[in-house]
Amino acid sequence: MQNFTTVNELQAALATARKEGKSIGLVPTMGALHEGHLSLIRRCASENDIAVVSLFVNPIQFNNKEDLAKYPRTLDADIQLVSTVEGTVYTFAPTVEEMYPEPVTTTYHFGALEEVMEGPQRPGHFSGVAVVVRRLFDIVQPRKAYFGEKDFQQLAIIRDLVRQINYDIEIVGCPIVRADDGLALSSRNMRLSPAARKIAPTIHETLEQAREMAEYEELDEVKEWVMSTLASFHEVNADLCPDGLCFEPEYFEIVNARTLQPVESLSEAGQDGCVGCIAVWLDGVRLIDLVKFGEE
Ligand code: PAF
Repeated sequence: MQNFTTVNELQAALATARKEGKSIGLVPTMGALHEGHLSLIRRCASENDIAVVSLFVNPIQFNNKEDLAKYPRTLDADIQLVSTVEGTVYTFAPTVEEMYPEPVTTTYHFGALEEVMEGPQRPGHFSGVAVVVRRLFDIVQPRKAYFGEKDFQQLAIIRDLVRQINYDIEIVGCPIVRADDGLALSSRNMRLSPAARKIAPTIHETLEQAREMAEYEELDEVKEWVMSTLASFHEVNADLCPDGLCFEPEYFEIVNARTLQPVESLSEAGQDGCVGCIAVWLDGVRLIDLVKFGEE
């Protein structure tokens, strides 16, 4: 493993590798790595001669300053975790100045893809993601880049970005990794109090029930049920919810998995399939998760 903090040093090492005919894969991350990231890094290292893992908390994708300030920064632990992956792995942990030597003026637009779910809740977020991902693509020039399906909308946006800028990079979506109790792994989970962490798997359990319900109920009913089940959880389970702990669901949408547009019935999406995507606040932490309909 080699660790880089500057664009020049990383590019010099990659240029040498490229001259030797080596293939390069990229896993963009904001650090605070967990088993979900490791699954992407392992896959990248097994499918490419060199896996580059970026560790960069991208300020321009946060529309909430408090969220940016609270984002966990655990560089030493991250490097230690990456060192457990077999294969040739380079980490790249630049400063903000190194990443953005000039003020960022570019903005990206993704039409209907960004008008749903996360888009209205987080103005400017996807443009900020696109700016940093493009910058990473330009620096690393990977053959393949790996992203988690947990950020389902982000994955669709990045596929659209690659189409817009016409880069020859294969975008590989990788499945969600869950804790034993079903909670989707996320860097934000470490900010949950013990009581919140204990009830957080309810999100996944509720989505699993929604998947079954959708086989015989109208989707509007299913959506309503998911939102109200989570919003009233603390009333039904007061013993598990000390000090005003409660779920505050922001949205739950059932959408076409390719276009991300809401559907009225599962059959409407045809071969694209449907996913149900949710964002929920718990204990001051915003958690997202999803369920794929029609899959066990
Ligand atoms: O998914 C993330 O961690 C970030 O949005 C990404 C893709 C690394 C860009 O900062």
